[in-house]
Formats: sequence, C-alpha cells, structure tokens
Amino acid sequence: MSSPQSEKEKTARLQQLRAEIKHHDELYYRQAQPDISDQVYDQKKRELDDLQTELDPLGLFSETQNQQATKPDVGDDRLDAFTSHRHLQPMLSLDNTYDEQEFFEFDQRLQRIFGTDNLTYVVEPKIDGVAISLTYQKGRLITATTRGNGVEGDIVTQNILHIEGLPQVLPGSSVPDLIEIRGEIFMSHQEFERINEEREKKNLPLYANPRNLAAGTVKLLDPKEARQRKLEIVLYGLGGCQPVNHFSTLSEFHQALLDWEVPAVEYFRKVPHAKEAWQSIVELDELRHGYGYPTDGAVIKLDSFAQHTEAGSTSKSPRWAIAYKFETERQETTLEDIRLQVGRTGAVTPVAWLTPVQLAGTQVSRASLHNADEIARKDIRIGDRVIVEKAGEIIPQVVEVVLSKRPAQSIPFTFPDSCPSCTTSVVREAGEAAWKCPNPDCPEQVKGRLRYFASRGCMDIDHLGEAVVEQLVEQNLVARTSDLYRLTTEQACNLEGFAEKSAENLIRSIAQSKDQELWRLLCALGIKHVGAAAAKDLARSFRSLSKLAEASMEQLVSIDGIGEIMALSIRQYFEDPGNQSLLADFASLGVSPELEINESTGTPWVGKTFVLTGSLTAMTRDEAGSRIEALGGKSSSSVSKRTTFLVAGPGAGSKLDKAQKLGVSVLDESAFLALLENPESA
Ligand code: IVH
Repeated sequence: MSSPQSEKEKTARLQQLRAEIKHHDELYYRQAQPDISDQVYDQKKRELDDLQTELDPLGLFSETQNQQATKPDVGDDRLDAFTSHRHLQPMLSLDNTYDEQEFFEFDQRLQRIFGTDNLTYVVEPKIDGVAISLTYQKGRLITATTRGNGVEGDIVTQNILHIEGLPQVLPGSSVPDLIEIRGEIFMSHQEFERINEEREKKNLPLYANPRNLAAGTVKLLDPKEARQRKLEIVLYGLGGCQPVNHFSTLSEFHQALLDWEVPAVEYFRKVPHAKEAWQSIVELDELRHGYGYPTDGAVIKLDSFAQHTEAGSTSKSPRWAIAYKFETERQETTLEDIRLQVGRTGAVTPVAWLTPVQLAGTQVSRASLHNADEIARKDIRIGDRVIVEKAGEIIPQVVEVVLSKRPAQSIPFTFPDSCPSCTTSVVREAGEAAWKCPNPDCPEQVKGRLRYFASRGCMDIDHLGEAVVEQLVEQNLVARTSDLYRLTTEQACNLEGFAEKSAENLIRSIAQSKDQELWRLLCALGIKHVGAAAAKDLARSFRSLSKLAEASMEQLVSIDGIGEIMALSIRQYFEDPGNQSLLADFASLGVSPELEINESTGTPWVGKTFVLTGSLTAMTRDEAGSRIEALGGKSSSSVSKRTTFLVAGPGAGSKLDKAQKLGVSVLDESAFLALLENPESA
C-alpha cells in the first residue's frame, strides 16, 4: 500500500492497522492459527508504532497506554479452561530487527547507558516455538506455564510432562531453592507430517505448520490426547530465581543447564564486543539449519545480570537484549492461474499456478490458497504479482499480493459454483471452510479414492501411480475401488506406457493386496474419522468387515479408542446402500480379509496394553509392536492406569517414572522376550 499522506489518511491507516493487529494477535495467541508470516506481522507492527509516534508523540491518546503500565504488551494466550499461574518474573517479548545497522544502534544505546564500549554479549539462536516457563522448587518441577499475558500464564504441566528429556528433577547440590527456567516447546517436521497424515485420513482440517500444531497441543484440554503427539523442548533462559544472586551471568546460567544435563540451546557464544556478536550472528545463520528445532533469528543479550537490572525494560521488552531476525526467504512471481482440485472427499481446493521461481532450495510452481474465503480476504486475482514463502510450512504459501503491480484489467476471482470435474453444484456445510462436490461418482473423487486406497498407509499397492489412476478412470476401466480387482493383464497392456511385463507387475500387485491385513482394507475404505490406529482397534475387536458392519453403536463405543463421533460415522458408512454394494463386490472378488488367530498360540494378550519406551536390542519398537498385536495385545504410546505392562529399555525417561507412580508393571527387555516366548504367562 502506498504511504498515507494527509493527517486524515494517516489516522484511518492507524485504525486499520490496529484492527488488523488485533485480529492477527487473536489468531496467533489464542487460536494458534496465524495466517500471515512473522515478517509481515512485524512490518505491520512497525508501521503502526511509527504512525503512532508521528501522530501522538507523547502517547497521550494511545489506546493501550494505561494497560501498558501494568501488563506487558505480548498478546495473551490464556484460555478459561486452564488454571492461571503468576510468573515470578514477567515473560517479556523481544525487540527485533532485520537490519544490521539497527543491531549496532542497539549496542550504541547500551554503550551510552554504561559509558563503555567494553560490553560482553552472548549470542544464541532464537527458537521459533511456543514459550514455556518451568518452575522448580528445591530442584523438583512444580509447574509448566505458558506465557499468557506475560504476567500470568496457563498451567499446562500435564500436557507436556511426556516430553522425553523434560527435566522433572534438577540434579546436584548447586540448585537454587526456586527457579524459573524459560524455554520453547517445538515439534519436528516428521511428527508434524505424521499427525497431519492421520488427520487427512480422518478428514480433519490440517495444521499449517509445526509451530501451530505444537501450540495447539500444549493447549489441548485432554492431556491423553497431548501425549499422543511428540513434543520436544529446548531451554535457554532464566526467569525468577531465589536466591536472586545465585547466578551472576547468563554464561554461568548456561553452564548450569549443561551441568544439569537438560536440553539447552546448542549454540551459545560469549563475545567481548558487538563486532564479534555480529560475526556470531552470521555464523549462526549458517549452522542453525542443522539444529533439531526451528530457528528464525539470533538473540543477542548482555551477559551480566547486574547490567540487565541497570538497563531495565520497556513495557514490552528488555533493553539488554535484541532479536536479529533472519530473512524468511520470499520471492515475487506471477500467479498464472487458480486451478481447483477435487479431493477424494469432494472438497474443492484452490491451488495457485505460479511462474516457477527458486525458493529456499527448491523450484516452486504451485502454492496453497487454502479455500475460497482466503482468496477473497487477500483479494488474490489471476495475473497478480504475488509474494510466496515457505517459512515453517512445507507447502509454499501465497503471502500477499503486490497491489502496486496489479494489471489494470484484473478482475476479482469468483469461486465456481459447480464442480470443475463433473459440473455438479458445489455445497458448503455449516461451519466448514471448504466447498464440496456432492457427487460420489465425480471422476476426480474416484481418482482420489483410488490413490488413497492404493497408498502405502492403506492397501500398499505397487505400480498404481498417478498416471495409471488417471487412465483407469478416464478410460472407464475403474468406477469404484473394487473394480481394480477386475482388471486384466490385457487391459493393463493397453494403458499408455505399459508393456506386457509392467502390466503383469501391476495386476500381480493388485491381486497380492487381497491378502493385506483387515485393518488396511478398513483404513482404505476412507470412512470419515477412521485412521490407521482406529482401524487396528476395530480389526482387533471385530475380525471381519461383515462383523463390523453389524456392530451397534453400543458395541462400537465400548472399544477403547472409539468415541461417539467415530462410531456414528462408522454406522453411517455401513448403512449407506452404495457402500453396502461396494463391500459385497469386494467380498465377491475375494477381498474379504479376516484377522487371523494364531492357532498355536491363540490370542492370549487380548485386553492387554503394552507401552514400549527406551531402546530395545533384539528388535525395533515397531517389530515389538507387531509381535504384541499378533498375540492379540495392544501397543500404545502413552502410559495410563489401563496400561498392563511398560517395556522399558535403556534411556527410558518420563514414561518409566509415570508407570512407577501408577503402579504399572515394568518389564526390562529380557523379561519382555521371555513373555513373548511364553505368552500365556502374561
Ligand atoms: S530471551 C526478556 N532468548 O522469543 C526476554 N527469547 O520474541 C526474554 N525466544 O519471549 C527472551 N528463543 O519466547 C530469548 N534464545 C532466546 C529465545 C527467545 C526464542 C522467544 C521467547 C521470547 C520471544 C520473544
């Protein structure tokens, strides 16, 4: 937007920015679902601050002036459902800059305060996670608290207690009586993808990036659910401490973190001047990509706590520290087209087709546009120059439109009211963001169901790639998934790119999938809310599709892990005449797997739940899980009162503590192996 000129324009812009920032704060802090990048947010904040200073230099009319005297200006993540906890020291925000010169100005200000150019700084990574404050009394963890409004946060201890490496006790004799250790919770990309895959299978909306998912997990109302998601933690900071002078410098405190063997930041440099600090920042930008946690900058702080006290803080941030933010790589490119994709559930998703551009190491030619509302809100039009970035997201996003470069003749994008594949009118259910094609025979939906059916997490059929699916549906060889099992080698031979050998391979893979386990077929049906874990639970309980089809709501909800919503969705699936005919077709074609009972051993572990933790030497945890399931038992990832055995190998941490607290029987590896040999003795 071009800069506002007149006083009136400036005031209007100021009000607009205030409203926008309020909206983005709500999305970021409370809903953990921001829809703009940090960089765009920072730009807006800065523009607001500048305009505010220009229009009201003395701060006489500032909306937040009164609040700021008592409450730090750091947003507020607190929710009614949690208990509040007052921080011993407020959790402030940091001033940040993207500019080298501004970093040196920060140093100049401190030089003026202290009358010396001999200031010792420390440099460490700025972790892009979810802020957490851990309070220890006499070395024992008492509470884990979110930032909240900076003064009071929500107690979320139960949601993060399962984190491997989260120190529950600080060892040694030099532990202060009371200490707040500050850190960040984060989630790996791998875990993020695993959870989103599960959600996709259950037709649930996907999380945009690992940070949002970590924030959402920390604030889950059910700690059991939180335990199903792997969170991680890294610690760097000191809040309140008694006795107050226990540490005199940040480097001493960092050394204590290392001595206590808690997860501390990997990069920590103590430097004698700002010049060396800058060199460290540059070095860190190179090294940070190798760290296990996401970083978006460097934090530069004075080393001495006495100097922290002397420099003091503004309402928002300390004067003794600054964050230098690394640029998120962004590129400008042209939006050539907006195409609509129809998924297996009928959801119509808009995708940006871009002039290819190099971004953070890969060539990007597509970007997500989320849904119709998102396009309207950002007023994204075909032909626009747009800014794309990858940031924490895996799929590139269109951040904003470069309005100054908008072609004169451009027109707003109108979301079609009919399915781009089969022309059926699209519908939108109340509360849903996506428009859907309601026609189950829509060719794009059929292709989506076929791809899903054959995917690795479902029937795992080799040689059934994208191009094959496309041809099978376009040539009317497959109208529903069961038709796959009617395909002949001759038909496959006629597919483009196929010869006799490749056709035989495809038909063999399809035939072999008839022997896949029951849970895989159950998953492959795509029943709403039923992912792999639920499919396994259902297979174990009912052992065949026909038995599951007859199961009542009561029977379904009595199974551990199946709630009412899922049970209802299962009932609806099996009551649908189209699905009944599909299942009959599968059965007539010989696709009717049953859960085999091992005749020699039977299933002596039915009703027994095992949790595996630490490392095993004789087999991987996955193999151990399969052995448990083959004997009728269940392998779970979290310890509860219902756990029958915890199998604890070397390195077992919080799960072992918890099992001991709950009185769950603990087996070491050799005891577990003995039990596998003689399962009846369990
Ligand atoms: S020091 C009094 N150091 O970034 C200021 N913060 O935007 C204390 N953060 O509130 C903050 N890495 O949640 C500090 N190495 C680091 C950090 C870090 C991430 C977070 C923290 C802070 C926020 C400020």
